Amino acid sequence: MNTMQVELGDRSYPIYMGVGNLDKADLLIQHIKSKQVIIVTNETVAPLYLQQVSRHLQQFQVEVVILPDGEQYKTLSTVETVFTALLSKQFSRNATLIALGGGVVGDISGFAAACYQRGIPFIQIPTTLLAQVDSSVGGKTGVNHALGKNMIGAFYQPQCVIIDVNVLATLDDRQLAAGIAEVIKYGLIRDYDFFSWIEVNIDKILARDETALTYIIEQSCRNKAEVVAADERESGTRAILNLGHTFGHAIETGVGYGRYLHGEAVAIGTCQAADLSRRMGLLTDIDVERIETLLRKVGLPTEPPVDLSAEEFINLMAVDKKNVDGEIRLILLNKIGEASLPIGVERSVLLETLNHYGRTD
Ligand code: NAD
Ligand code: GLY
Repeated sequence: MNTMQVELGDRSYPIYMGVGNLDKADLLIQHIKSKQVIIVTNETVAPLYLQQVSRHLQQFQVEVVILPDGEQYKTLSTVETVFTALLSKQFSRNATLIALGGGVVGDISGFAAACYQRGIPFIQIPTTLLAQVDSSVGGKTGVNHALGKNMIGAFYQPQCVIIDVNVLATLDDRQLAAGIAEVIKYGLIRDYDFFSWIEVNIDKILARDETALTYIIEQSCRNKAEVVAADERESGTRAILNLGHTFGHAIETGVGYGRYLHGEAVAIGTCQAADLSRRMGLLTDIDVERIETLLRKVGLPTEPPVDLSAEEFINLMAVDKKNVDGEIRLILLNKIGEASLPIGVERSVLLETLNHYGRTD
């Protein structure tokens, strides 16, 4: 097992990464300082892993909330379900919330933990690759609004993150690929060597070689932890973690939550950001081809949906947390392995990218 610390002063916490971590009772129990524990999971993950976690908690008063599965349930009304469970069992302010699931469960639960009685401790047990390499680390929690993805939320750090590589065995190939999109992101934004390693080892990753999976989780969490430690609340460099996300969020919101997986939308957005970077004179044609080739090898989409017009894209991109005074600002790539800070982009150049993929509008 490898342990890494997210360094945030008195809010620092460990990420435990390894094979079989769900079977290690002490790992979990040492972080529970209360008698009352609530586990929030969903209808897919519960039959797979709830018992494996809850058997460690026999000395606690345990409440379980099983949410419906899907991005479309990442809403305020689902958060209210968690509040109702906490209040109906009279859970106190020191109760511990355990988020057991993918990024959707983690984001909803973390936000519920941030709000309930103004904040209760919570623990992340991420069960998708995407959640293990990205959403469980760093303290961004929240839900979607019909008019914008992740628009309601809070920064709220967990007590620890427990990652078990074994749980990826039940994840289907499409979900694994979606997680790899965020793994590739770290290479692109700040770690050229990692990007090159992924290129060389992509077949092993896709074959779920345990050593390769463990390595990408460790390298991704290291990159994420370093960025978060440098800028917890995204007043500067943390924004680079959003490479491709402004386009991606527009796709997710524009075509309806759930049609594209988050990682798929990010993959498309990454290609659009790469194309825009080339148009702004930052990347070469060869760089862009290299990025698209890797994403295609993973089986990820690289072109935006044809039913989302450039005009709709721009309207949706106008609702983004990086925008300032209404100006759309994007993370671009200076080169493979180095992202820019948010850059205001002229509408005409943005339109060139949006119209690049066989569009006529
Ligand atoms: P998800 O949570 O919807 O999980 C994907 C699917 O896999 C779901 O059907 C889920 O039930 C299922 N699943 C989970 N674990 C499984 C397992 N071990 N075996 C089989 N099936 C399993 O999606 P996701 O990709 O994990 O997360 C996407 C969400 O994360 C989005 O809402 C995105 O906005 C958010 N996100 C947040 C951050 C952050 O910093 N907070 C970062 C990136 C993404
Ligand atoms: N996933 C973006 C961030 O955590 O900042």
